[in-house]
Amino acid sequence: MRLRFASLLAILGAGFTCAAQAQILIAWGQHPSLGDYRNNLAPYVGSPEHAVDKMLEVANLKPGEMLYDLGCGDGRILIAAAAKYNAKAVGIEISDHLARTAAEHVKKAGLQKQVKIIHGDFMKTDLSDANVVTLYLATAANDTLRPNLERYLKPMTRVVSYDYPIPGWKPIETSETEGRSNAVHTIYLYQVPASIIKK
Ligand SMILES: C[S@@+](CC[C@H](N)C(=O)[O-])C[C@H]1O[C@@H](n2cnc3c(N)ncnc32)[C@H](O)[C@@H]1O
Repeated sequence: MRLRFASLLAILGAGFTCAAQAQILIAWGQHPSLGDYRNNLAPYVGSPEHAVDKMLEVANLKPGEMLYDLGCGDGRILIAAAAKYNAKAVGIEISDHLARTAAEHVKKAGLQKQVKIIHGDFMKTDLSDANVVTLYLATAANDTLRPNLERYLKPMTRVVSYDYPIPGWKPIETSETEGRSNAVHTIYLYQVPASIIKK
């Protein structure tokens, strides 16, 4: 009986800790609903480090500019943008676990003033203050996202997509980088409005 009571206390304690953490994270951004999890448009795979460097180089990111990483995973692109380019960065991530991980990495790097993590759905995010948007999603996800990019992004905003093109847009430049197992990966650079093909 004593053992059962102890187990109950442990379960209640763990539940309380989870609830407290969730509140801290959700306070930063949107409130994800069940629907958000249905809107997960790409599985998690982190960009290799040299791909991150190449994406930021082709984006021609400048100090003080605002970068958005849509589906920021563990926050690696945001951290590189802030630490190496002195840019500001916002990451939107639908996975609670990854959003927490990204927030921890940002804190560990001491970049909380420059980098914000939003636990939420990038399809519900206003992107109008972006100068650069980075994507590592999938072609179908880019297609779903395209109307939002066209709605929110201001002229001269650059969009860099690793591995997957944006259907219906014309890149202003493409470059190649080596990925895992020496495979060659394409980086697509777009710019608003030059890349938007008029129908
Ligand atoms: C291939 S990973 C890229 C991670 C990171 N951008 C990088 O390059 O290292 C795609 C990420 O998008 C996230 N994601 C998928 N759909 C999303 C959505 N609708 N809103 C926010 N994040 C989403 C996934 O959880 C995953 O972490």
